Amino acid sequence: MSSVPNIVFLNGQYLPVEEATVSVMDRGFLFGDGVYEVVPVFGKKLLRLGDHLQRLQNSLDRISCLNPHADAEWEAIFSDLLGKNPGEDRAVYLQISRGAYVKRDLTANAENPPTIFAMVLHVTPPDIDVVSAGISVITVDDFRWNACDIKSTSLVANVMLRQQATDASVDDAILVKNGAVTEGTASNVFIVKDSVLITPPTSRQLLPGITRDLVIEIAKNNTILIEVRDIRESELYSADEIWMTSSTREIAPVVKLNGEEVGSGVAGDMWKCMMNLYQQYKQELRRK
Ligand code: PDD
Repeated sequence: MSSVPNIVFLNGQYLPVEEATVSVMDRGFLFGDGVYEVVPVFGKKLLRLGDHLQRLQNSLDRISCLNPHADAEWEAIFSDLLGKNPGEDRAVYLQISRGAYVKRDLTANAENPPTIFAMVLHVTPPDIDVVSAGISVITVDDFRWNACDIKSTSLVANVMLRQQATDASVDDAILVKNGAVTEGTASNVFIVKDSVLITPPTSRQLLPGITRDLVIEIAKNNTILIEVRDIRESELYSADEIWMTSSTREIAPVVKLNGEEVGSGVAGDMWKCMMNLYQQYKQELRRK
């Protein structure tokens, strides 16, 4: 048994995880009919909470579901939940499903209350030596739908794509649609070519990552050249560096692609620079 308390939030109540239960008629369970967010927490500070709540609102709007709380209410819930689950580096996981209906019926009913669930994930701070060793990835065909900008809990396609990576004994996969890079199975993709950082533009083919935005902002503030444009699959093979970014992974350097070394086969100089700037940003947030 873990000694760390695990108090979760479910529909207005704070409960031990074992006591938090949801109906089998919940549309999240039956259809994956819901959206979610993962917000990193450093010390007591939520990273870019406003941006996460804005993305939550966009996801809810896209699936025509009302936001059950105002931003200030979400902030209060997260703060209470973090208070009940002490720790240093953590993340808040929030999921909103369209709730439980009496009948299994695809038709949505705006009157029905949603199911609101949040929990705290305990995160091990990245060990710089482990992270610098880098990850190996393969490219796979991105067969997902034209609504990947929604942070939807319907993740079976992502699970299948990650399984292709697992079957190939690598860490992750870079998804390619019609010859262009979209994203990772749970992260965004950057490449570095001739000291220019490049990432695909937001579209319905990928999730607008909050870490992606932060990396772009840090690059701009530190006179690192950045281009937001499509990346052809062929450019991956001649890239000096490839990175994958997410709230939980932060910035992971890719050192092997489809069995071949990326650049010099080790985490690159631009990655080291960005990783330092990112860690500084986190430290400043903690001190605020
Ligand atoms: N996933 N693309 C996809 C498909 C993702 O699932 C994620 C994050 C990202 C990066 O977004 P952000 O930088 O805001 O974390 C991009 C989260 C971490 C998850 O599913 O656990």
